[in-house]
Amino acid sequence: MGYQVYLRSFADGDGDGWGDLAGLRARLEHLAWLGVDVVWISPLYPSPLRDGGYDVADYLDVDPRLGSLEELGALVSEAHALGLRILLDLVPNHTSSDHPWFMAARGDRDSPYRDHYVWRDPAPDGGPPNNWPAHFGGPAWTYDDASGQYWLHLFLPHQPDLNWQSPAVDEAFADILERWLAWGIDGVRIDVAHALVKHPDLPDLPPAPGQGDEVEVTGGSGVGVEREFERYAHVHDADQPGVTEIYRRWRAIADRHDALLLGEVYLLEPQRLRRYVADQDGLHLAFWFAPLHLEWSPAAVRAALREGLEEVGPWLSWPLASHDRPRSATALGGGDLGRARALCLATLVCGLPGLPMIYQGEELGLTDVPLPHEVRQDPIAVRGEPERARDPGRTPIPWEPGPGWGFTSADEPWLPIGDRRPEDTVAVQRGDLDSWLQRYRALLATRKGLHGSVADEPVDWLAPDGPIVAYRRGPVVVAANCGQQAATLTLDGRHRIVRFASARAREGQRVAEELPLEPHEAVVLGP
Ligand code: BGC
Repeated sequence: MGYQVYLRSFADGDGDGWGDLAGLRARLEHLAWLGVDVVWISPLYPSPLRDGGYDVADYLDVDPRLGSLEELGALVSEAHALGLRILLDLVPNHTSSDHPWFMAARGDRDSPYRDHYVWRDPAPDGGPPNNWPAHFGGPAWTYDDASGQYWLHLFLPHQPDLNWQSPAVDEAFADILERWLAWGIDGVRIDVAHALVKHPDLPDLPPAPGQGDEVEVTGGSGVGVEREFERYAHVHDADQPGVTEIYRRWRAIADRHDALLLGEVYLLEPQRLRRYVADQDGLHLAFWFAPLHLEWSPAAVRAALREGLEEVGPWLSWPLASHDRPRSATALGGGDLGRARALCLATLVCGLPGLPMIYQGEELGLTDVPLPHEVRQDPIAVRGEPERARDPGRTPIPWEPGPGWGFTSADEPWLPIGDRRPEDTVAVQRGDLDSWLQRYRALLATRKGLHGSVADEPVDWLAPDGPIVAYRRGPVVVAANCGQQAATLTLDGRHRIVRFASARAREGQRVAEELPLEPHEAVVLGP
């Protein structure tokens, strides 16, 4: 089971209002208790924080506000002692504009680092070289007065895209990866893994099919400001030939260290995603984001899960939410309805091949915090669309009731904690066997306990339609009523036991032919 730590909001160890490595170290035992195996830490490198650390100024160091290399080393040793593996977030599509490579490259056409980035002369009218939009709004090009050329940035101007046609960039990242893995890191989550390579001629993008109607996002980061971005078909700025070659080279490095490569390949078309994992000579796993984009209905849940598994394959990581999306309880209907749906989805995903990934706080059933616009820090807010900013899903974790909610001893955390309730906290939920936290813990334990009996078994979907989404995998049946009425699943008559149930009282029940499920009830049956 994977768990995403958004470090600045996880736990503050030094009392400055920012989550940090000291805070995470102090809470590692909690993650082990929950049943996590793999911890992915969002970027912790030195960064001017224009995009929450996804603007890296030094790939081989730790932001002093978050700790130090020494502290990270201690964290890795402690994690290993608890049976946890640590993934760092590698950001190879772009650097920060404060990275020494870019500082040297900007303004100097003869810099040895110039070719690390993508530069082009202005169009004949002096405007940007092509029509590419940036994810966070505006054109994907910014003009550099000093050198008279534009630089490319698929995200912010402060996040210049690296030029992956340059052998020096390729070598630099092979070296960065090798160094972290040799140092003791267990693998990497690769940011924007589909977009490193661009079409060499940088042609204009055509309009998206159906432009003007509803347009499907095919290559976005899943972030909020995508409206302009969605007007185009992203056929030249992402998912280009050659990108999987990079991961082939990285795989050789990863294999030497028994490390994991997990790609944020933000492609919602399964056949395109498949290319990144099907040969298993590059990425080990790629995220399948379709479940985070669905409009809730049994058919939509079933389709999103089946499509990933059947059309991509078993090499998926299943995010239950992420720092780029609203929290699942909020996205799926709000309050207890949203929480119950999120647990249904988590239960269904937990029996499938691949690596489910909890985003911190999902296990508490947290909802988004309605933050006033002026405190929002996401670049989407800074660039003028505060209502679409990602901050409401990034607020600090409430660990226990009281001032600072156990997150910080500072008067002000970096982002407001919001009006959480005592029953939202880890401390209160740990003491209540019916809490969301305890239900997630039971689910993770069931997944682990049954892993041996399902590992080599295919997934047989049981109910092609109706409110219950269900499948059998060897002796195990996983079922969730994703509809609004009670329903019954007819089984094969084999005796099974309810090993996990969203309603704890059902655990231990025997089931043979009929499995009645209330709306939003989820179970795992096993021998
Ligand atoms: C990360 C985002 C980030 C973007 C640019 C992603 O997909 O998850 O948080 O804004 O990459 O680095």
